[in-house]
Amino acid sequence: MGNVSVAIDGPVGAGKSTIARAAAEKLGYIYCDTGALYRAVALHCVRSGADLKSPGEIAEKLPSAKAEIRLIDGVQRVFLNGEDVSDLIRTPEVSMAASAVSAVPEVRAALLDIQRNIAAENSVIMDGRDIGTVVLPNANVKIFLTAAAEIRAKRRYDELCAKGESVTFEEVLNDLNKRDYNDTHRDIAPLKQAEDAVLADTSGMDFAQSVQLVCDIIAEKTKEQR
Ligand code: DC
Repeated sequence: MGNVSVAIDGPVGAGKSTIARAAAEKLGYIYCDTGALYRAVALHCVRSGADLKSPGEIAEKLPSAKAEIRLIDGVQRVFLNGEDVSDLIRTPEVSMAASAVSAVPEVRAALLDIQRNIAAENSVIMDGRDIGTVVLPNANVKIFLTAAAEIRAKRRYDELCAKGESVTFEEVLNDLNKRDYNDTHRDIAPLKQAEDAVLADTSGMDFAQSVQLVCDIIAEKTKEQR
């Protein structure tokens, strides 16, 4: 088998990035978090004062936003115009802005090749919202990873608290529901389960069990294809 591509899609806070990163490490694949690209473009729009309600203004900012993923010692870092913004893109403000910019067709078109090139060159677990449906429709394995909204919000809340952000659980749950709504209702490449994706619901599982589930699905699917 040549390079293997695994597409993991799912809603906010399903644990996609932590689970996918751990599974990739176990399997010796690289891990690519595509949300980081949308977040980098969002940061650029926030910094340059674009009206996030205006798709036209967001699209106008695009030529001056060069978003890149670089692998440094096998770990993904995200760059915006040459600046490492990997940590700056993790705030609630940028999260909400990312949901807005990701609904703009010009933004999605601009980020498509970056994602496809990574999968062409490496065995990869790539996570996002439209990886199995649009970015890698021929992925070897497609997983739709989800969990109940309250559980996802609690995980996200704990993460933000650990980082010292001052938020309430209700704010996190509200944000999560709003972003899920935006992501599933936009006209272009909305979040949805690909027809050939395996549904993985981690609601009752701890982290190790979720990673194992993902590794088991990948093992089973790639075995079928050998
Ligand atoms: O996965 P995340 O929370 O870092 O993603 C940030 C935003 O980017 C999210 O609101 C949806 C959007 N996104 C997308 O539309 N398509 C992707 N492949 C990845 C993320």
